[in-house]
Amino acid sequence: MRSVEVLKNVFWVGAVDWNRRHFHGFTYSTHRGATYNAYLIVDEKTALIDTVYGPFAGEMIEKIREVIDPSTIDYVVANHVETDHSGAISELLKVAPHATIVGTVQCQRGLQKHYFGNWKFQKVATGDEINLGEIRLQFIQAPMLHWPDSMFTYIEEEALLLPNDAFGQHLATSKRFDDEVDENVLMDEAAKYYANILWPFSQLVVRKIEEIQKLGLRIDMIAPSHGIIWRGNPMKIVESYLKWARGEAKRRVLVVYDTMWGSTEKMAKAIVEGISNKGVEAMLFRLPFSDRGDILKELLEAKGIVIGSSTINNGIIPTIAPFLEELAGLKPRSKVAAVFGSYGWGGGAVKTIESKLGNAGIEIVAPSLTAQWVPNEDELKKCTELGEDIATTVLERT
Ligand code: FEO
Repeated sequence: MRSVEVLKNVFWVGAVDWNRRHFHGFTYSTHRGATYNAYLIVDEKTALIDTVYGPFAGEMIEKIREVIDPSTIDYVVANHVETDHSGAISELLKVAPHATIVGTVQCQRGLQKHYFGNWKFQKVATGDEINLGEIRLQFIQAPMLHWPDSMFTYIEEEALLLPNDAFGQHLATSKRFDDEVDENVLMDEAAKYYANILWPFSQLVVRKIEEIQKLGLRIDMIAPSHGIIWRGNPMKIVESYLKWARGEAKRRVLVVYDTMWGSTEKMAKAIVEGISNKGVEAMLFRLPFSDRGDILKELLEAKGIVIGSSTINNGIIPTIAPFLEELAGLKPRSKVAAVFGSYGWGGGAVKTIESKLGNAGIEIVAPSLTAQWVPNEDELKKCTELGEDIATTVLERT
């Protein structure tokens, strides 16, 4: 793929990682691949905003060469230390030896610890600017969105926001703009990205958006460092972030479970029936058949979740442990929950799930249900009633 002219003086010189199927190790499935976006700003002086993941350094440098001689690059703005954006800096500096790296003080520390490079570094903070000629780079720190060093770069002259990870999606495509791709696919990946990366920082997301709104910045284009550039309707993703961050959700309940011999599954299906009886959408996921990251994306816009497990060794089936662990870390806001499970003798799965939901800060709104060995007609009726109860709570709270 070649470089792409995004605006008159702004060029995409990033890389598409078509074959990436997992991100952050194996924590986040990327079924549609990924992109690392770097942007070249050409004026009297030249700046590169972010780089790409290290193995793609050569691709990025070739794209830069299509536009300018890389040795003329004056600044490399490192909006974020994480290696998917900084991994190509060392290679780039071999062909751009005069470039100064620009970032926050936390960024400087992070880059030093990652690469041990003795690089020229210019520290910047919110309100600082670098003049390239007609274009000024303005900086807005965005700590914990999603690392302490994170920063946005803004170009007033182009009404262009370059927010690094924020507003990104993992989507490999030969297209670069929101108005060139399927909107449902785009929003699906944007939601999954928010759920898997930004969800725990939701309060900061709201505050940062409100801060930028108060600054009165004109934003005609948002060019994140992953995925598609928002130019058709850049406010769509901003409004979606506000909705997700505020915990606004649909009348939807997820039922997530695993089962040893089918008893917990019978209970799960009876709960789904109860949820549906009340006209609330139900979605059923058995782990590990369903992907954890995909379930989290569906949970982002669901008001409720019901989690079940058979008991084994006085606890949960290990296959649901990673999902519960991730919930505890993401701490989704404003959800309601219920718990169920089957057991042979001592039980224990339900207690473990209750404890994990407590760690996640999710409110359990109904007494947990258990059934010994195989649920009988009466126990399944109670499962249906549990589904109706949580659906009623969802209706009351949405
Ligand atoms: Fe895309 Fe936090 O790196």
